[in-house]
This record gives sequence, structure tokens and C-alpha cells, in this order.
Amino acid sequence: MIPARYGASRFPGKLMQDLGGKSVILRTYEVTKETGLFDEVYVVTDSEQIYKEIELNGGNAIMSIKEHDCGSDRIAEAVEDMDVDIVVNVQGDEPFTSKSGLEKVLDVFKGPDADKIDLASLMTEMNDWKEISDPNAVKVIVDKDNFALYFSRSPIPYPRDKNAAVQYYKHKGIYAFRKDALMDFYRLPMRSLEAAEKIECIRYLEYGKNIKMAISNTQGIEIDTPEDLVRANKVLKEDKTVTVNNKYRNFPMVPKVIFGTGSFDQLPSILAPKRKDKAPFIYLVDDVFEDNKELVNRMHLRFNDKLIFVSADEEPKTEQVDNIVRVIKREFTYNPSGIIGVGGGSVLDLSKAVALMLTNKGSAADYQGWDLIHNKAIYHVGIPTISGTGAEVSRTTVLTGPEKKLGINSDYTPFDQVVLDPDLTVGVPKNQWFYTGMDCFIHCVESLQGTFLNEFSKSYGEKAYDLCKEIFLENDLTEEESRGKLMMASWHGGMSIAYSQVGVAHAMSYGLGYVLGTKHGIGNCIVFNHLEEFYPEDVKLFQEMRDYHDIYIPEGVCSNLSEEQMETMIDIALGMVPLWENALGDDWERIITRDKLRELYLRM
Ligand SMILES: [Fe+2]
Repeated sequence: MIPARYGASRFPGKLMQDLGGKSVILRTYEVTKETGLFDEVYVVTDSEQIYKEIELNGGNAIMSIKEHDCGSDRIAEAVEDMDVDIVVNVQGDEPFTSKSGLEKVLDVFKGPDADKIDLASLMTEMNDWKEISDPNAVKVIVDKDNFALYFSRSPIPYPRDKNAAVQYYKHKGIYAFRKDALMDFYRLPMRSLEAAEKIECIRYLEYGKNIKMAISNTQGIEIDTPEDLVRANKVLKEDKTVTVNNKYRNFPMVPKVIFGTGSFDQLPSILAPKRKDKAPFIYLVDDVFEDNKELVNRMHLRFNDKLIFVSADEEPKTEQVDNIVRVIKREFTYNPSGIIGVGGGSVLDLSKAVALMLTNKGSAADYQGWDLIHNKAIYHVGIPTISGTGAEVSRTTVLTGPEKKLGINSDYTPFDQVVLDPDLTVGVPKNQWFYTGMDCFIHCVESLQGTFLNEFSKSYGEKAYDLCKEIFLENDLTEEESRGKLMMASWHGGMSIAYSQVGVAHAMSYGLGYVLGTKHGIGNCIVFNHLEEFYPEDVKLFQEMRDYHDIYIPEGVCSNLSEEQMETMIDIALGMVPLWENALGDDWERIITRDKLRELYLRM
């Protein structure tokens, strides 16, 4: 429900103003509808003009009959006789309302405490004292489960102790009501706290309702003034600059790295100054090393340090991250001094995610996406034992969650320290060495052939590409040289995609991974083997390498998929929008249709 009043005190008629060729209200309506989250979307208005605007453009509008004090009353009148469970109130003057925000406010009704929730709303972090003390910004404080305790125009809590760590939250005017709660609101008279603060949702608290708050840090633009409208028009024109594909990325790098055969033995002296009093270091080690006493001895565990062997048989899952975090929290009251990940891409990704989740509440699944992490991770160190994934330099952690396969991509994700010791990769089985090495090769190809390419990415990508050719096609390298070179190729390949993006093979490999659990490296190979249409020269080169090392690449993996599995696979692949944009440009949707993807998958 989008309540839309024509007269607004600060900016009359704002909903009918032009925003990039359409009225503000029509844009809000379309954006809301396009989220696909709702069974029905209506604009509820007192204005003939707004009603016509929506109806004439093929939308649904309802005229409200009565005079109303606020938006909630207006939508209550509209849904009174409708058979609905949950009603979401979307502000008419927020044409940039984000899908993720709406998703979050709806998701709380799927949580374990759903029964207790009367309504849900959104809040966003605020850190600027000027904004915190501004009475126009409504602040909210919550209990440990994010239920609202109070809303106010005053700064709450009052910071008597300036050093106490407290996060301020601003309330955003998006609500999801159970119908009963909304109808109660409509019937119950205003009480004194609401009247004093002029904040609608206080009424629910005054009548003992439970409001669950979800955190959303995506910034919308509310059209409150003519200046806002100018700004919004500008944003619309530069739409691309507000997406994750920023043309210029301000990218964090790994601040410390040590390289060389035997450098692993320096780990204890690297960690010593980072040890905090009684807080242990937690080592997450690939369970292929479970019987490798020598490796464990070289780590010099001390005091209450803890070693956890983790399985990398499957792609890392958000659930696995949550479990490890739970184990650590159960055993130690303090946060550890650091997390040390020793293993391949999966273990490194798990380690980054665990370090993040020790300082950010909730489940890892809540943070799958771009820049959703609020707090700095604890100190974390990455020590690769197989080369190619680039996980040691990346700003993400690829994780499979209950609903999607997506990384926790944030400035806090990269390791604080990486140890590159080529000797640790001795003993990797040949197939795995090849598949993972090809992940690196494909990173280079997809970055170098992509439309996002720039000199920065190119300089890393070209070097890694040449190293891969040297390693996989020439036979004048010693094993030791080859190991060192592949370790550096992995690093450079990772850096190359950090400043550009991967492409077709990765998008499709994510689909395989999600539906069939195919691991990243081999999944990429299965896909790349059939991508001559997109990367003709490089697929040829790949096949030469495959034959040279006599590596088997599985075929026909999609031939027995059910229709539902195929549809899911296509959904997952199509969801990787930035990857397609990089690979094929703005026009990608014309080239990559659902049918096209199906045909490609069936070839694999
Ligand atoms: Fe990759």
C-alpha cells in the first residue's frame, strides 16, 4: 500500500512532480511492483489527479473516502475489507525504495519469533552527531532481539558516558503490519507520547504492541523539498553510479603479506604482537591436514589457542559459518585474538566469514550481499594451501545460504595478513591442482575480455595470464618454480577481478554450484569447456592445457536435471547481473535469455 496525499506541507504536489520523465508517485508504484515481493500493490490517495495517474498507466489505485491524519489510517481504511495477512506501507515519496529493504522488513515474519511480532519496520545506522541531534530524524532504540523500545526525536540514549559504545539508529518509514495490528491502530485513540513527539508508531508501543526492527543501510532519497527532486533527477541520470558497479572503486587491499618457501615458520612471530591477553587464536584448518602432525607442530599453538578442522568437501555454507561462530562463543567469553585460516579457497572464505560474524550479530545469511557488514572483523590471517581461487586477496567470501549463493562483500572482509608459502601446496592432487589453477586462468580471461577492463585490472590480469600459460603449457619449470609461480598467478588473478569483474563462466558455474553442489574450480572448468562462443581463443587454450595434463572434465552434468532444478539454475545464473554486464555489456539481456542459458547448460 502506497499512501499518497496530494497536499504536502513542505512541498505541495510533490508526488506529481516530474522525475526523469515520470511522476514521482508512478515511479514509486513501478519500483514497488517490480520487486516482485507483493501479491498486489495499490496507491491509496485522496487526490483525483493521483488516482488517474496510476489508473491510466495500468496500475491499481484506491480513492480514500475519509480525511486522515496519517498514512497508516489511510491504508487501514483501504484494507479494512480486504482478505490480507500482511500489509506493507511504502512511502509515496520514496521512488528509490530498495528491494532489499522491503525484503528485510518482510523477512522478519519468517523468523523464529514471528508469532510475537505485530508489525515490523526498518532502521538505519547513524553516526553523525549533527544528524543524531536533528529532531527531523526519528531515532529508535531496540532490545537485544531488535524489538523497538522507544522512538524519539531526542537523541536516545543520552550519551552521558561519551566512551560507551552505542550505535544510534534512525527510523525509516517503511512498515509491515499484520492486518489486526493495523486495524487496531485505526481504532485506538492517540495517547500523550505520540501526541508529544508526533511519531505515529509510538501509538503501537503505548498500546503494548511488539515492533520488530530490521536493519537496512541502503540509502534512499526521500522527496521532501524541491532540492531533493533536483538531486533525485541527477541520481536517475547517473543511475549506474549508485549501483555496486561503481566505475571507480575504493578497494581495500591486504595490508601485510609474506612470501617464500618456508615463510610459514614465521607465523608464530607474526602473531605474537597480535595476541590479546587471554584471548586465544582460533585456527581453522582444512581437514585434509588432520593427520599432518608436522604442519600442526609448525603452528606452535599456545595457551588456550584452539584448532578446528573444517571440511572443504562442499562449498562453504552460511550455516557452517554460524556453527563455527557458535562453538567459539560457547567456549570463550571474550572474542579471540584472531582467526587463522589454513586451506584452500573454501577454508579461506569460511575464515573471513567467521572473523566477520564474531563482531556482527545474527546469521551470516543476513550479510550476503554488498556492504551489509556494520562492524570491523576481528584480526584474520589467510594461509592458502592450494593456489588459484584468489580468495587470499578478495573482498568477498563466497557462501551458499538458504536462499542464495553470494559473498559477504565488504571493506572488512579482506585478510589483515596473508602468508604465501609455496611449499604448503605440495601434495595437492593433480586434478584439484588443475581445476583450481584454471579458476585463476578463467579469472584472467573474464577480466581481460570484460567491458569493465581498466589498466589496473589489466596489469594484474596480463601477468597472471602469462604465468598460467607458463605453468600449464611449458615443461621447463621445476616443481618448486611452478608452485611459486602459481601462487603469484592466483594473487594477481584475484587482484585483476577485484578491480573489474568475472564473467560468463562464473555466472553459470554459480548455477551449477547452487543446484548440484559442484565445487567452484571444477564447475568453472565444466562450463568454460563449452564457452567457445564467448571466449574462442581462450577456450582453445584451455582445452590444450586440459589435454596436455590429461585431465578429465565431466560432461553431461545437466542432462538429468528436473525442470525445477533447471529453472533454479537459470535463476541463479541470471541473478549475477554485474557478471553479465561485464562479460557482454549493457545489452546482455538480449543475448542471454532463459532459453539460451538452458541450451548452454544442456551442452555441459
Ligand atoms: Fe573464481
